[in-house]
Amino acid sequence: MIKKLIFLLAFFAFSNAFSQSSTELGDDKYRPNMGQSGKDVIWIPTGNELVAKMLKIANVGPSDLLYDLGAGDGKIAIAAARDFGARAVGIEFNPDMAALGQRNAERAGVANKVKIIQGDIFKEDFSKATVVTLYLLPELNQQLRPTILKMKPGTRVVSHAFDMGDWQPDAEIDSPAKGYFWIVPANVSGEWALDSFDSKSSTILNLSQKFQYVGGNLTLGKKTQPILNADLKGDRLQFSYIDDMNNLRTVRLSFNGSNIKGEENSNYMIREFSGFKR
Ligand SMILES: C[S@@+](CC[C@H](N)C(=O)[O-])C[C@H]1O[C@@H](n2cnc3c(N)ncnc32)[C@H](O)[C@@H]1O
Repeated sequence: MIKKLIFLLAFFAFSNAFSQSSTELGDDKYRPNMGQSGKDVIWIPTGNELVAKMLKIANVGPSDLLYDLGAGDGKIAIAAARDFGARAVGIEFNPDMAALGQRNAERAGVANKVKIIQGDIFKEDFSKATVVTLYLLPELNQQLRPTILKMKPGTRVVSHAFDMGDWQPDAEIDSPAKGYFWIVPANVSGEWALDSFDSKSSTILNLSQKFQYVGGNLTLGKKTQPILNADLKGDRLQFSYIDDMNNLRTVRLSFNGSNIKGEENSNYMIREFSGFKR
């Protein structure tokens, strides 16, 4: 089974890894071999074109702190700093590889923004990341998934080649190789009381959730109706409902733990309200 997955990884990488010049593979101090074994997965670098697409789909920018889990020669972390202005940390188990990655960061002139550290992705703390990149294996993604889902809502995650099981991606890359993109959703499930949403009656919002997919009911006074077109991105939820004049209205909420701030466009004015978890 493991051999099959390693083969899979090599196969997915085939199309893009060889677009990379062999002069990029190491320096005088250390020359890694494509496909060499690593603690939990072999080393194959992501091709340059896919690296750029992964960073673009995650909208990486100067305010980001990117962590590449299993950093190899540091190329994703280096590109994030060099081409997108981000700070970046690569976690790499192989000490020679981690040292090579740090030298590569120095040669690329981004050592002030990039640290390639020797460590195990299952032990190091990457909770401060705003963007996480991975090129691992399906079962490693699955093992990391609970940790990733506990990260700050809105954290962006991009995986080369492998998905996250039944956590559907928010977007995909199809060429030069497969990539998957997710936004960590806030935990919004439960019953929420909305203050001053409606001056005449109390308002209760009942939400159920599977990852970023949200459904539920809005109870306005005595009337309960399903929410429509719910769209959760990180800590922001937008949905529509039908008001008592039969108009379709759209509400935008932002979640912060057990508190909500919300707004609704009403008669060309923005009406603000707040709420809390019951
Ligand atoms: C497929 S390569 C990806 C390298 C790089 N992220 C890229 O996309 O170019 C996976 C890397 O993870 C490293 N690795 C394997 N198990 C690891 C672990 N438990 N902790 C940290 N690094 C690990 C391997 O040594 C290898 O360099």
